[in-house]
Parts: sequence; structure tokens; C-alpha cells
Amino acid sequence: MEFSTKLFIVLVIAASATATSIGLSAPRIFSQESKGVVTNITRCGGYGTPIQLRITECEGRCSFTPGRVYNIEYDMIPSSASTSLSLACDLVFNGTPLRLFEAEIANSSVQPGLMYTVKFSIVPNDILSGQTVKLRAIIYHTDNRLLEICVETECDILDLPL
Ligand SMILES: *[C@@H]1O[C@H](CO)[C@@H](O)[C@H](O)[C@H]1NC(C)=O
Ligand SMILES: *[C@@H]1O[C@H](CO)[C@@H](O)[C@H](O)[C@H]1NC(C)=O
Repeated sequence: MEFSTKLFIVLVIAASATATSIGLSAPRIFSQESKGVVTNITRCGGYGTPIQLRITECEGRCSFTPGRVYNIEYDMIPSSASTSLSLACDLVFNGTPLRLFEAEIANSSVQPGLMYTVKFSIVPNDILSGQTVKLRAIIYHTDNRLLEICVETECDILDLPL
């Protein structure tokens, strides 16, 4: 089975990022461009098993340059079968979550015990330049909202280059 799909959504959100695409893939090896493994991850709930988070040019911790596209890959094992998953992404600043986007992932039928990779992109804007924020990803069953994964990682939004 192969779920290499891309649903293109273009949301222009004042908060701090624009989702450019999301998709879900069955287990396989991806070309790695220069994605690094993000290590400082905190769980915020969910029945599924988080495996690994990779983000463009992040090693351990992310420092985002406003205006750049960051590709995100998240490996996870769902706890139960679902015909469709949805993904929401928040930036948490001073304890307040700002919803960047929320969308159903196209063709995202999953089985428990298999590892899947959720792929999406964000483009941070400069509203929170100079701040430390948390990037939170939430993956849930579209039909009954069963929470599979909630994870977050602390990251920095850099100042705009002069
Ligand atoms: C979802 O899967 C169907 C059937 O395989 C395919 O026709 C369709 O293009 C896929 N959708 C996306 C967004 O890839
Ligand atoms: C890891 O994240 C926690 C909060 O989520 C933060 O307090 C800590 O400073 C971070 N560590 C590094 C090395 O970024």
C-alpha cells in the first residue's frame, strides 16, 4: 500500500505560518534533503506512538527564519484503525495556542501497528520574530476525533535578515 498523496491547501494565517501542503505516507525511506532530527519533544497526549520528528535544517532544536519553507516529517504508529486522519498545527506562545491550520489528510486510512509518516510544510512569518514558541502537532481520527498524537517542541523564531 502506498499513500504518497499531497493535498495542497493554501491558508494565509496572520498568526505565524502558512500551511503549504500536507500528506501521509506509508512506511518508506524518504530522500532526506537536509532535514534534521528534532530531539526536544514533549508529548501532550494521544494514544498513538510517536517515533521521530524531522524538520528542514533543525538539529535537536529548530530556529526558524521567517519566510522560509520548512518541511516537516513526523513518523508515528496509530493505536487503532481509522479511515481518515486529520492534522492540526499550533504555535504556542506564552501558553496561548495559535491555530496555524487544521485539515483532513487526503487518503489517510491507517492500520494500528504500522508506522506512517505525516508530511507537511510551514512558512513562519515574522510576527513572533525574536520569540521562543512551541510548535505543536495534533493528529486525530477525523470521524470521532480520537486523539492519536499530540507532540510539541520548543523553537525560536529568528529576526528577519536585514
Ligand atoms: C486518493 O486516492 C485516490 C484513489 O487511489 C486517488 O484517485 C486520488 O487522487 C487520491 N487523492 C489524492 C489527493 O492524492
Ligand atoms: C526543551 O524544551 C523545554 C520546554 O519544552 C525547554 O524548557 C528546554 O529549554 C528545551 N531544551 C533545549 C535544549 O532546547
